[in-house]
Amino acid sequence: MLPCRRHLRPPPFVPALLLMLLAVAPMPSPAAAVGVTWGFASSHPLPAAQVVQGLLLPNSIPRIRLAAASSDALSALAGSGVAVTVGVPDALLRPLATSRKAAAAWVHDNITRYTSGVRFEYVLPFKQDFSIGHFISYIAVGEEPFLLSHGQHLQSFVVPAAENIQRALIDAKLSSKLKVVVPCSAETYQNASTLPSQASFRSDLNGTMVELLSFLANNSSPFMVELNPFLSFQQNKNLSLDYYLFQLMTHPVKDGQNKYDNYFDASIDALVCALTRAGFGDMDIIVGRAGWPTDGAVNATPAVAQSFMTGLVNHLDKKSGTPLRPKMPPIKTYLFSLLDEDQCSTASGGCERHYGIFTFDGQAKYHVNIGQGPKALKNALDVEYLPSKWCVVDNNKDLSNSSISSSFAAACSSGDCTALLPGGSCSGLGWLGNVSYAFNNYYQQHDQSEESCNFSGLVTSSSAPRPPSTMVAGFLPSAATMLLCLALLAAGVAVADELAPAPGPAAGIVPAPPPADELDREGSSQHCWEALMEIKSCTGEIIMFLLEGEAYLGGGCCRAVRLIEQRCWAADAMLSVIGFTPQEGDMLKGYCDAGQPLQQHGSEPPPPSSAADGGDAASAREMMMSAFGSLAGRKHGPVRG
Ligand SMILES: *[C@@H]1O[C@H](CO)[C@@H](O)[C@H](O)[C@H]1NC(C)=O
Ligand SMILES: *[C@@H]1O[C@H](CO)[C@@H](O)[C@H](O)[C@H]1NC(C)=O
Ligand SMILES: *[C@@H]1O[C@H](CO)[C@@H](O)[C@H](O)[C@H]1NC(C)=O
Ligand SMILES: *[C@@H]1O[C@H](CO)[C@@H](O)[C@H](O)[C@H]1NC(C)=O
Ligand SMILES: *[C@@H]1O[C@H](CO)[C@@H](O)[C@H](O)[C@H]1NC(C)=O
Ligand SMILES: *[C@@H]1O[C@H](CO)[C@@H](O)[C@H](O)[C@H]1NC(C)=O
Ligand SMILES: *[C@@H]1O[C@H](CO)[C@@H](O)[C@H](O)[C@H]1NC(C)=O
Ligand SMILES: *[C@@H]1O[C@H](CO)[C@@H](O)[C@H](O)[C@H]1NC(C)=O
Repeated sequence: MLPCRRHLRPPPFVPALLLMLLAVAPMPSPAAAVGVTWGFASSHPLPAAQVVQGLLLPNSIPRIRLAAASSDALSALAGSGVAVTVGVPDALLRPLATSRKAAAAWVHDNITRYTSGVRFEYVLPFKQDFSIGHFISYIAVGEEPFLLSHGQHLQSFVVPAAENIQRALIDAKLSSKLKVVVPCSAETYQNASTLPSQASFRSDLNGTMVELLSFLANNSSPFMVELNPFLSFQQNKNLSLDYYLFQLMTHPVKDGQNKYDNYFDASIDALVCALTRAGFGDMDIIVGRAGWPTDGAVNATPAVAQSFMTGLVNHLDKKSGTPLRPKMPPIKTYLFSLLDEDQCSTASGGCERHYGIFTFDGQAKYHVNIGQGPKALKNALDVEYLPSKWCVVDNNKDLSNSSISSSFAAACSSGDCTALLPGGSCSGLGWLGNVSYAFNNYYQQHDQSEESCNFSGLVTSSSAPRPPSTMVAGFLPSAATMLLCLALLAAGVAVADELAPAPGPAAGIVPAPPPADELDREGSSQHCWEALMEIKSCTGEIIMFLLEGEAYLGGGCCRAVRLIEQRCWAADAMLSVIGFTPQEGDMLKGYCDAGQPLQQHGSEPPPPSSAADGGDAASAREMMMSAFGSLAGRKHGPVRG
């Protein structure tokens, strides 16, 4: 096999005058080569205008990759200056491949129409990658036969569709503005070995790849690769989490003379090797996807995701390139992704729905520089939520009926139960907790319609006496959904106390890099975690406070709120992660700050999360159980007389 050698691109000829001009020109943003992907598989999508005006522009996101040519998104992006990459849905692949007319119509309807306002960069004649063949089988558990045939079926249309779109772009005089690229997953070139030098394009893709590479080369288009580091981490048990999170490695992966201390560089160099073996070793590379999920699996948490994203962005900022392409990082890298999508396929795991840097309603889950620099991420403002109502299992009904299982399955197949999966934020709820979570999720996804809260008459909805005028339909009540999950979790912990050890910090979590003023506080993420555990123990009180209008929060509960404020490096983000809207977070903090003197924390160790043990624990749990009991058993309508 040919070795894949270090490749050095000759420096471009830059006239001295231009160099001088460049020297005085404003420094480009350090994250200039980074973009973010924006998908639309959401039951309650944030309106496109709010995404552009409230997230992309305030956070200075320089480029965006759209999953499809959404006219809402393209209209909202017009005049924004954000560079746009547009995807083409799989379903259009065949028509576009077989008809030049169809391709011309597609380009006209979805591109040309917007060119006066939108700054296009790339067109992808494919929404998803074509990682066809046997390698898909370990991703799509239980769905291989369909995906296999689907993939093989699409394979032959990819390059013809790309060619037809390219011709249409030339005819529309747009080919100098946009390039056609085809996203390919790392599975197209990385086989069982994790060593970059072993990589080559899969033999079952041989013909297609040769065609594709020659098409790309003829049009000076880059190769777009989609990386799934989380999936790779789950599959390669002998590669440490540090390797994926750009942490210092005491034992880097050795590959001949080259050493790799992170998965990202190794994947890029594997691609370089595969391209070299195929005769296209000079081809530019774009990373179309790189991200880390925050829920739905073990090690999928905001803290780990922040570690990955920050590591990636910092790594790209250094522009150090890889061992095979020193000083030549991928020409662009798209972070995956902007928002959570509760309707996207779970074929490669439940975590697939939790890749957002922001929650579905535009609230940042963690800190990363996506263009805004060292500042905190700006959240979407003026998000409208549904009323605070739930649909949960009625404890008074006979639950012995086996139909509850099929109801659960039905609710989950349409709703999103991925937070219940092992490692997920609502795992460990117990069976009834699971069922309530599923029913409630289904109910919220269906905009709280009466019909959607009816699974064999098992459930009841619980409404809070908030004035309806403050709530306009459109969004899930994020706090309500999450508080329900927390309430269920607390109830589950109380019941299964002996079995389930109190959760500690998840193994392998790298402490979130705290901002400068917090750097002195050693182990702050540990303390933050303990504070989060404490707040779980007062979920009932918080539900009463926020949703029932009770004007009282106990001292223990406020202490937990203040612990989060003091010990979590990004208290606001942390409160939003556990489900509070910014307004609700402010209400809690405002009440607690006003009510009780701040305790000195200094070097005093935080109260252990098991502080509630003993007498206190019993009463706290009782309170939780009764809070949850009343929540679950209540009939429609306001409860206060
Ligand atoms: C793009 O254009 C095609 C053909 O005119 C049209 O059918 C389709 O709905 C448009 N939008 C998207 C998102 O592809
Ligand atoms: C992986 O690719 C290398 C190089 O092409 C090859 O020698 C090896 O047999 C492949 N391994 C598997 C499991 O396909
Ligand atoms: C690329 O260009 C070469 C030479 O012009 C041509 O022979 C080949 O068919 C082209 N390939 C594709 C896929 O367009
Ligand atoms: C991981 O383990 C496999 C099988 O045990 C081995 O072939 C591979 O070289 C290992 N990879 C690394 C990076 O140690
Ligand atoms: C495809 O297969 C042929 C013969 O099996 C081989 O000569 C060629 O190098 C392969 N191309 C790639 C890109 O792997
Ligand atoms: C159990 O379910 C069956 C069918 O769904 C129904 O006919 C029966 O009345 C249910 N029994 C109870 C006790 O809910
Ligand atoms: C709750 O649901 C999750 C996801 O379906 C499952 O893994 C877990 O085992 C369930 N728990 C119980 C107690 O059934
Ligand atoms: C709820 O379910 C019961 C029993 O399946 C059915 O009779 C009733 O019509 C349903 N109500 C609604 C609003 O769908």
